[in-house]
Amino acid sequence: MARKKLIAGNWKMNGLLADGIDLAKNVAGGVKAMGKPQCEFLVCPPFTLLTSVKKALRGAKVALGAQDCHMAEKGAHTGDISPLMLKDLGCSYVILGHSERRADHGETDAIVADKAVAAHKAGLKTVICIGETLEQREAGKAVEICRNQILGSVPADSTAVDTVIAYEPVWAIGTGKVPTTQDVEEVHLAVRKVLAQKLGKSTAGKMRILYGGSVKPSNAKELLSLPDVDGALIGGASLKAEDFLAIAKNSEC
Ligand code: 13P
Repeated sequence: MARKKLIAGNWKMNGLLADGIDLAKNVAGGVKAMGKPQCEFLVCPPFTLLTSVKKALRGAKVALGAQDCHMAEKGAHTGDISPLMLKDLGCSYVILGHSERRADHGETDAIVADKAVAAHKAGLKTVICIGETLEQREAGKAVEICRNQILGSVPADSTAVDTVIAYEPVWAIGTGKVPTTQDVEEVHLAVRKVLAQKLGKSTAGKMRILYGGSVKPSNAKELLSLPDVDGALIGGASLKAEDFLAIAKNSEC
C-alpha cells in the first residue's frame, strides 16, 4: 500500500513576524529546489503567522496548517478560532489533540473528536495526536493508552484522505530521547490494527501514521524507513529550515 510520506513542522508558540516569514521562505525555497519530492510537506505556524506564511509559501508545494481549532463554526467563544476561519485563511490541515493541549488545556479524547468532526466538516484535514507519558510507558501501558486515544479521538467516519495520525510519546517531545525502532513499530502496528477495527481494513491500510518526538536529521532515516511510519511531526527541528529539509532528504523524499 503506497502511502505518501508527510513531513510536517509544528512550530508551536514560536516566531515573530520577520522570523516566521524568513523560515517559511527558506522552507519554500528548499522544497522548490527538490524538484519533484516524493513526500508531502506541511508547516503549522502559530495563528498569528498563518496569513504571512501563506504568502511566503506561494508557489511551493508546502501545505499550511494550524495547531488547534474550536469545535463550533462561530459564536461566543472569546479567544478561539473556528475551522472555517482557518479554511478561509488558506489552511488545509489542523493539528488536534497534541499532548501539550491535552496537558495545558485539559483536552480530552471526546473534545478532540468533536474538534475533528468540525474540522472535517469545514474541509480541513486533521493530524490527530496520541501518545503515552513516561509513567504509562514504564507501566507497560503504551499500546493500551494509544489504542484508547485512537478509539476516543478519531471520528467514526474519518477517511485516509481527511485524517492523519501522529504518534508522539510525551516523554520524547523536546527531550532528545527517542523510543527504540522496535517500540515505535510496535505502537504504529497496534495503531493501524485499532484503526482497522474502527474504520475498516482498507481505510486503515491507507491512513498515514506519523512519528513525532525529537526527530532530527540524524535519526530521521532510521525512524522514517520503518514500514508503518509514514512521515514525521517535527517540533524543534522544524524551526530551522535546514534541519527540516534535511529530515526530508534523509527520509528519501
Ligand atoms: P520535538 O520535535 O521538539 O520533540 O517536538 C515534537 C512535537 O511535539 C511535534 O508536534
